[in-house]
Amino acid sequence: MFITFEGIDGCGKSTQISWFEATLRENGIPSVVTREPGGTKIGQAIRDILLSLDNTCMVPLAELFLYAADRAQHVSEVIKPALEAGKWVICDRYFDATTVYQGVVLGRHEKLIEQLNRETTLGCKPDVTLLLDCPAEVGLERRTKRDKRRDRFERKTLDFHIKIRYGYLALANKYKDRFRIIDSTLPEDQVARKIREVISPYLPESDLNQP
Ligand code: TYD
Repeated sequence: MFITFEGIDGCGKSTQISWFEATLRENGIPSVVTREPGGTKIGQAIRDILLSLDNTCMVPLAELFLYAADRAQHVSEVIKPALEAGKWVICDRYFDATTVYQGVVLGRHEKLIEQLNRETTLGCKPDVTLLLDCPAEVGLERRTKRDKRRDRFERKTLDFHIKIRYGYLALANKYKDRFRIIDSTLPEDQVARKIREVISPYLPESDLNQP
């Protein structure tokens, strides 16, 4: 089972992933929780380059190829082997993030983005993608409260984050079978419950009726 979490910055993914990880552990489900960019040693180095405030001059195409490099390494080293070993893989951002973020940043090159997404993922497609949706203002406010030192991405304008939000919603609408939209303005425990409801059909039989 391969589950990805997506959403704008500050949508609450990290908190929800920790809750979800605990649920899987309680249910004895072998799982790997990982993230992009930065799910491998090489990926962590790529992440540092991508998020560093020293690199504000990075051109959008360079950014696209760095995300692709991170993913190629991550899929081969972590995601594919874990899925082949029968584990659940929970990934904080995946190729949908490239489609949406680099799609907005580049404003063209859809075919190149599609091709890179296809080549780097080696056929590992998420079974379920949870889109934690909230208004961009809410996401930005949460991020600012959490960490005053904002990285390169969080210095982007509100307008940028609004475009990302609608980019994700459009993608969710296009791939209805895979995406589930979760209202992440709700209190944390309610969001966690909704995620559990979405995933419960995939959990072992005995877990279906737990509160
Ligand atoms: P991260 O710091 O992990 O933020 P969050 O906790 O909100 O997920 O994400 C780093 C940034 O990288 C985030 O703003 C989205 C961006 N990103 C892309 O632009 N393209 C991608 O393919 C991925 C995976 C992330």
